[in-house]
Amino acid sequence: MKLILLGPPGAGKGTQARLLADEYGILQVSTGDILREAIRDGSPLGQEARPLMEDGRLVADQIVVGIVANQLNAKGSEADWVLDGFPRTVPQAFALEAMLNRRGAVLDAVVSLEVDDSAIAERLSGRRSCPACGLVFHLRWNPPRTVGRCDRNCGPLVFRPDDAPGTLLRRFAEYGLLTAPLMPFYEKRKLLARVDAVGEADVVFERIRSVLGES
Ligand code: AP5
Repeated sequence: MKLILLGPPGAGKGTQARLLADEYGILQVSTGDILREAIRDGSPLGQEARPLMEDGRLVADQIVVGIVANQLNAKGSEADWVLDGFPRTVPQAFALEAMLNRRGAVLDAVVSLEVDDSAIAERLSGRRSCPACGLVFHLRWNPPRTVGRCDRNCGPLVFRPDDAPGTLLRRFAEYGLLTAPLMPFYEKRKLLARVDAVGEADVVFERIRSVLGES
């Protein structure tokens, strides 16, 4: 199973990628999580990505393509995976296609999580993340066991800085301009499956399983 999850900020890509990874024992590759970890570590990658992410802009294609290539190469061509947050531009999609062709591997499906603006606003305003381990919660839909604290005992949860209204506007603009063109890109390749992503996470997960022919 080689899958891509597409969708605007807050659509639930990370949430569904984790459920898919757990259910099928496949690798979850989240470029956003990897970049946030690099920022936490203060690595050269983190230093380069930080100002862009804080501004709601995409990180350069060659950097994220390199990240994904490293992750997939480490696992070998037989590995199954779900990509969450990549590709995000048409050049990234071509780079992934070339990577797969070189390995003789094929993409099984690209799942587009379709949500309305009010669901996105509710999800992002209620999202709280652990800055230490990256675990994601929601005040209403996925609350931590202890209010304001990570379930792994890392410490206090925070509102993601790039969810602030000004930055969020830029992320949506980047999505519309650079990521939305991936829909026709994958539709043309007959890989795109649109899934209604409004509803509780386990309900959405069942819809994804159903379009994958797994239920
Ligand atoms: P990234 O971290 O990928 O951000 P994003 O795509 O904007 O997506 P989000 O993480 O905001 O949301 P999500 O769809 O994963 O939703 P989640 O599951 O958390 O990227 C951040 C930045 O990194 C980018 O702006 C860019 O700078 C850089 N970057 C990353 N990849 C890049 C790339 N390929 N190229 C260039 N730059 C890149 O859910 C949101 C909330 O809702 C959570 O609280 C969750 O608990 C809750 N929730 C989820 N599903 C449901 C549900 N069904 N019902 C109720 N609540 C739900």
